[in-house]
Amino acid sequence: MQKPITASAPGKIILSGEHSVVYGYPALISAINLRLSIDSKGGILSRIPIGCGMGSSAALAVASSALKVIKGSGLNLEKVNSLAYELEKKQHGNPSGVDNTVSTYGGFLWYRKESESLKLFKSIRPKNRLDNLYVINTGRPLESTAEMVAFVNSGYKKNKAKIESVFKSIEQVARAFLNEALSKNGSSAPDLIKENESLLESLGVVSESTIGLIRRIEKFGGSAKVCGAGGIKGNSGVILVFHKDKEKLFKFAKTSNLEVFAVKFGTKGVYVK
Ligand code: MEV
Repeated sequence: MQKPITASAPGKIILSGEHSVVYGYPALISAINLRLSIDSKGGILSRIPIGCGMGSSAALAVASSALKVIKGSGLNLEKVNSLAYELEKKQHGNPSGVDNTVSTYGGFLWYRKESESLKLFKSIRPKNRLDNLYVINTGRPLESTAEMVAFVNSGYKKNKAKIESVFKSIEQVARAFLNEALSKNGSSAPDLIKENESLLESLGVVSESTIGLIRRIEKFGGSAKVCGAGGIKGNSGVILVFHKDKEKLFKFAKTSNLEVFAVKFGTKGVYVK
């Protein structure tokens, strides 16, 4: 019997630029060490929490596209990415393509969707180890990514000038985060995360309970931001947390009954074996 082929694709974390990236603003994203694999018999194994902003649906789209595209030993990443993007469109309506692109290529990416047919991205190699960053899962939101993207769009249609100005401020944060990652001794990550979170709150994509949780994290010396589509009525998916004291943060997560991950950033993109 032939051994089944397996494709493995990573989840992702958006360091900065969620939502605004749908409108052509840049985003800084990283592949992480939580992965999904699917074999040619249809078996799926995943460590990526589903529907929480860690790119589980994109990882599934990328891994299944890889199985379709693989020929011999060569994997054409461009083909995988564009097929996965089409699958994401079916699922989400109007995705930026950021999730499937980082799951395909891995590492850290600076990404920008100029138009439907021109999506620019560049792999970057951070000089700064981006230490002290963790991920806490607030739980699966009641709203889907498609619903959250549509929610921002309804606000955009009502008050374009206001939302454009929020997006422009997010772009400033994303650029500062890029500089932070590219500088050897960056120290502005906590402030950038805080600023990004306040901009996301002004878009209305963070729930009351998640805002409360983030204020509690800030009170004991951390900062945190939603890092996906967010969520309004219940939970808001995963949040990116900066804290200098890992032990304190993990203790806090445990007593608050929250899942916390010390994720690795900049991990490998899709591969087939
Ligand atoms: C979802 O991971 C990120 C959003 O910006 C949507 C998208 O980019 O397609 C909210």
